[in-house]
Amino acid sequence: MNDLLVRAIQASDRNWVAAFVKSHWGSEIVVAKGRIIRPAELAGFAASKGKEPIGLLTYRIEGLDCEIVTIDSTVEGAGVGTALINVVRKIAKAKGCKRLWLITTNDNLNALGFYQKRGFQIIAVRPNAVDEARKLKPQISLKAANGIPIRDELELELELSE
Ligand SMILES: CC(C)(COP(=O)(O)OP(=O)(O)OC[C@H]1O[C@@H](n2cnc3c(N)ncnc32)[C@H](O)[C@@H]1OP(=O)(O)O)[C@@H](O)C(=O)NCCC(=O)NCCS
Repeated sequence: MNDLLVRAIQASDRNWVAAFVKSHWGSEIVVAKGRIIRPAELAGFAASKGKEPIGLLTYRIEGLDCEIVTIDSTVEGAGVGTALINVVRKIAKAKGCKRLWLITTNDNLNALGFYQKRGFQIIAVRPNAVDEARKLKPQISLKAANGIPIRDELELELELSE
């Protein structure tokens, strides 16, 4: 996409980030690996075309690790997700991180393909972890739109080479 702009989110973006996350994930919170995370409090990048936001990535850095907490594109297959991954990869590396990682779920076949084609590897599977997540976030559906039960957490990572 020629006119795709990716910029760091600012404090003034918090409200739309919270609303965007809620509209995509059913709540302003994300639960992964037993933790409750509020993406609107995190650093991130917004992708836009003209004035319209068409993608959002939020992340957190802890030590040498950078976790992608959310990534969403509203115009799929046009390069938005790739642009967001490239920018977080760059910033994580610049901040000295050695690893980019994230949690996804077993039903998300599209995301699993997307990440693996971009160098991420599945390094852990936590069977039935979503049952626990649902206790903290009841909005998590039992079944995805593709009919697959949402059940297991998968951890993927990408080593950030020198
Ligand atoms: C996963 C997700 C973020 C990917 O975002 P996206 O904007 O569709 O990603 P891209 O457009 O960069 O890449 C998707 C495909 O489109 C292709 N593509 C990119 N630009 C293109 C273009 N201009 N023309 C045609 N195809 C293009 C890419 O090559 C890619 O295919 P590949 O994976 O086979 O290489 C998006 O599908 C999404 O928001 N999913 C819902 C939320 C979600 O599941 N998030 C992850 C939670 S862990």
